[in-house]
Amino acid sequence: MDILEAVKARKSIRGFKPDPVPKETLQQILESAVRAPSANNTQPWEFVVLTGKVLDDLRGANLEAFSNRTPANPGIPIPPERWGEPYGGRQVALGIALFRLLRIGEDDREGKVAWTEKGLRFFDAPAVIFLCVDKSDQDIVYLFDCGAVAQTIALVALRFGLGTCLQRHVTYYPEAIRKVTGLPASKRILVGIAIGYPDTDCPTYKFQSEREPVDNITTWLGFD
Ligand SMILES: Cc1cc2nc3c(=O)[nH]c(=O)nc-3n(C[C@H](O)[C@H](O)[C@H](O)COP(=O)(O)O)c2cc1C
Repeated sequence: MDILEAVKARKSIRGFKPDPVPKETLQQILESAVRAPSANNTQPWEFVVLTGKVLDDLRGANLEAFSNRTPANPGIPIPPERWGEPYGGRQVALGIALFRLLRIGEDDREGKVAWTEKGLRFFDAPAVIFLCVDKSDQDIVYLFDCGAVAQTIALVALRFGLGTCLQRHVTYYPEAIRKVTGLPASKRILVGIAIGYPDTDCPTYKFQSEREPVDNITTWLGFD
């Protein structure tokens, strides 16, 4: 796949087929993705990759934490309920578009809870990659590096017919993750990446998120 096609084809996938993803495929994806750039080649990223029973255990632990109203305690700060402008408008547009496709109305509390739970189940993906850094790494520059490796994972996954969804939400209960995976408290969990073969019948599959036109956000200098 041409690089431009791949960048355009990548989108968040929020419904997966149950087919397992071979370990060798996930390994190849990670081996390619770690070619991503990082500040001073520090490569601060670490991965925890889950599938099968251990992943099912984590789905259960996440749902339990949610139903017990466990306070969220993610590795990176929780964003505001509504961002300031211009981001808040984009955030709301995303929610409206997804809920419309899912036929979840504004007052449909049950529908919203079910969707939240689906997210906490990693959208039923057959595998998940947690992206972590060492907690001793206090320099926020690692967020750039980990963003680069996360996007590279998402792009390389396409090469194997796989879809991905970066999920901040699944890091809200790190104690559940640590309990199931044995990940020590010295590691900060940044994001989970649900990965699997896209369920093209899922209502959200056809969703294409909007982008601000580049000319609205770019200052061009010295070109004429
Ligand atoms: C750091 C980060 C965290 C995200 N967390 C979630 C999440 O918890 N749940 C979710 O459904 N999507 C999540 N997303 C996906 C974004 O909603 C998505 O990338 C954005 O709406 C653009 O859509 P696209 O990925 O389809 O192009 C996250 C993306 C990023 C970069």
